[in-house]
Amino acid sequence: MTRRILITGASRGIGRSCALWLARTEAAHLILLGRDAQALAASAEAVRQAGGTAEIHVADVAHRSVLTALTGSVGPLDGLVAAAGISGMTPVDRDSDAFFDEILATDLTGPWNTVRAFLPAMGAGGRVVLVSSVLGRFGVPGYGAYCAAKHGLIGLAKALALELIDRGIVVNAVAPGWVDTDMAQTGIRQIAAATGQTEAQFRAQAEAAVPVKRFFQAEEIAHGIGWLLSPANTMQVGQCLNLDGGVVQS
Ligand SMILES: NC(=O)c1ccc[n+]([C@@H]2O[C@H](COP(=O)([O-])OP(=O)(O)OC[C@H]3O[C@@H](n4cnc5c(N)ncnc54)[C@H](OP(=O)(O)O)[C@@H]3O)[C@@H](O)[C@H]2O)c1
Repeated sequence: MTRRILITGASRGIGRSCALWLARTEAAHLILLGRDAQALAASAEAVRQAGGTAEIHVADVAHRSVLTALTGSVGPLDGLVAAAGISGMTPVDRDSDAFFDEILATDLTGPWNTVRAFLPAMGAGGRVVLVSSVLGRFGVPGYGAYCAAKHGLIGLAKALALELIDRGIVVNAVAPGWVDTDMAQTGIRQIAAATGQTEAQFRAQAEAAVPVKRFFQAEEIAHGIGWLLSPANTMQVGQCLNLDGGVVQS
């Protein structure tokens, strides 16, 4: 049976790679959400070429009513991946209030809105994966909003897992380390500027801090998410799977 899996943040990066991985490995039907219609259409075309089918929905995950308005139109769901997210610095002694609110609205309230809107479409056997970060495991100076959101997301996954397991729905989170996407490029640029290094210097420093000594490709993260989404995963419940090359060991 073709599984139907909804992915937010599917226009680029990790969300897009998840869609392609599911298309290639099981010819899934992917319901792709994001804000950029053109980029979503390109993801949908790539999904078709990879062997799956796709539909797109333009939506901002920070806007609860926009998502709940879509509830009826997506049909039954077997899986949900909340990958939409933004990042950036919110130093506590600068004028960071508006960006703090935006990051929390997108990265923490966004996944909550997504689960709230689409849970009614999911029955027993459903799988939910929330995309957190290593910054949901430890703090980084200047990243208060992002760290708060990503720590919160792991807590949300733990609570939802216990709330939904009696319905046969399995909820987990993942915590990727550095992944080569647009978000990582922006992060490298910002931290290099803030620490007085070139981008190449900061990247070399960041890679050296990873036990496997490199950044990851989005497809490698998709592989981990794909396992959590699989019906074969019945044991990993309310956990956060580290996908970081050995940075976090708990
Ligand atoms: N890259 C890393 O090193 C890394 C590490 C750990 C965790 N993560 C997490 O992994 C997830 C994906 O990140 P990425 O690296 O793939 O980033 P990315 O390449 O910047 O992609 C972010 C995706 O989120 C979507 N998005 C952003 N704000 C949205 C909103 N308000 N509503 C709907 N969609 C929105 C974007 O689509 P539109 O622009 O079309 O809306 C895009 O598809 C994020 O949650 C991020 O925090 C990334």
